Amino acid sequence: MNTFYIETFGCQMNAHDSEKVVGTLVQQGYTQVETPEQAELVLYNTCSIRDKAEQKVFHRLGQFGRAAGKGKKFGVLGCVAQQEGEKIFERAPHVSLVAGSASYTKLPEMLVQLESGNRRVTGLTFDSAETFDTPFTRRDNPHRAYLTIIEGCDKACAYCVVPFTRGPERSRTSESVMREATGLVERGYTEVQLLGQNVNSYRDPSPAGWDFAQLLAETGKTDGMRRVRFTTSHPRDFVREIVQAIDEIPALCNHVHLPVQSGSTAVLNRMQRLYSRDEYMRRIEWMKSTRRDIAITTDIIVGFPGETEADFEETLRLIDEVEYDSMFIFKYSRRPNTSALEYPDHIPEEEKTRRFQILQERQRTIQMRRNSNYVGRSEEVHVEGYNTATGQWIGRTSQNKTLNFVDASLPAPSGDQTHVGKYFDVLVTRATPNSLAGERVTLRARLQ
Ligand code: 5AD
Ligand code: SF4
Repeated sequence: MNTFYIETFGCQMNAHDSEKVVGTLVQQGYTQVETPEQAELVLYNTCSIRDKAEQKVFHRLGQFGRAAGKGKKFGVLGCVAQQEGEKIFERAPHVSLVAGSASYTKLPEMLVQLESGNRRVTGLTFDSAETFDTPFTRRDNPHRAYLTIIEGCDKACAYCVVPFTRGPERSRTSESVMREATGLVERGYTEVQLLGQNVNSYRDPSPAGWDFAQLLAETGKTDGMRRVRFTTSHPRDFVREIVQAIDEIPALCNHVHLPVQSGSTAVLNRMQRLYSRDEYMRRIEWMKSTRRDIAITTDIIVGFPGETEADFEETLRLIDEVEYDSMFIFKYSRRPNTSALEYPDHIPEEEKTRRFQILQERQRTIQMRRNSNYVGRSEEVHVEGYNTATGQWIGRTSQNKTLNFVDASLPAPSGDQTHVGKYFDVLVTRATPNSLAGERVTLRARLQ
């Protein structure tokens, strides 16, 4: 068995876990292939944040069930694996590996067991205090790298499976994070994204004892580092020092993703979010009163059990006040093991859909207005690719906005990657609710 295929669902933590899993497998002599048909080992790195995400994996396993007889092995990794455990072997008998993210350090041993014919290999315990830190991580992007600083979550939001699927919080030492950041720059990366379910509850376990703001500032000061992002922040642990660091250190991107979930304090209390609407708004004020124009984005759940029309209207008022740059909206989804399952007054699906649409429409107008403010401004982009269909380069601003641009100084590239990974100044000429468009500002254009 030496070819494998991996498909990844879910968040950036999962995407990065897959990069580590790929690195480990390649180190063990396996070769990655592009399709499940070509592979002897088929892996799904799964997400269980909402019901739909979870169903996807069983759908995939159903599709390939019959191929199992032809010598393929199937493995379920990640959050569904951790949540469903050995039940997966009953539901999909052709699966022979079930492993959660906390056990990936043991992946080489699990592979040996698989190869020796063990039909039910599991990695489901949280007994390892180690964070999954592998030197042979295979990063997908050669310019922008994920860097895990903390794993797991110690909060207990009433709707959320993450504390069950990713276990308790474990922070890496600041020394190991800084070593990885420096190593990434040496290998040509100019942008890193610090990752964790709750990055700002980071606590350096070494005697240095750094908190998240310190770690963020130091990463931003790494020689050669052009951009540092971080995700996700919990409002309760979001301290003013983080905003001060962003204001002072240019390499720290002026974008903060701060999930609010609801604009109603009553709902926030029932969600066990540990902050009120006012406390959240104070953090927004810190960001709005900086010299830098910090883009703020959020997550909102509509139709949490017991959410009244008045609660929902408070959410609408909150988004008008904050004027988010972008937002992910989710309909509440019942999740196993979570306390909200027992709550009364579950909201009918049609009503969740109605609230979802109202919120989406309102936010679209806000985004259009926000993005229009950029027209006529010059923004620095990190170039990510080229769109042959539109003839535009695809770039991202420090605020995490997509800025598609043309470059008059360069003959239309024939699908090549000349600019990818570079930083350019681009004049914004057009805005839509979800992106910006513009023209590269070259020295020649400036002089004209
Ligand atoms: N139902 C709906 N949305 C959820 N999220 C987390 N759990 C649920 C759930 N049970 C959303 C939250 C979180 C984002 C990653 O997913 O908004 O911030
Ligand atoms: Fe999905 Fe949450 Fe697991 Fe990420 S941590 S893969 S969002 S369930």
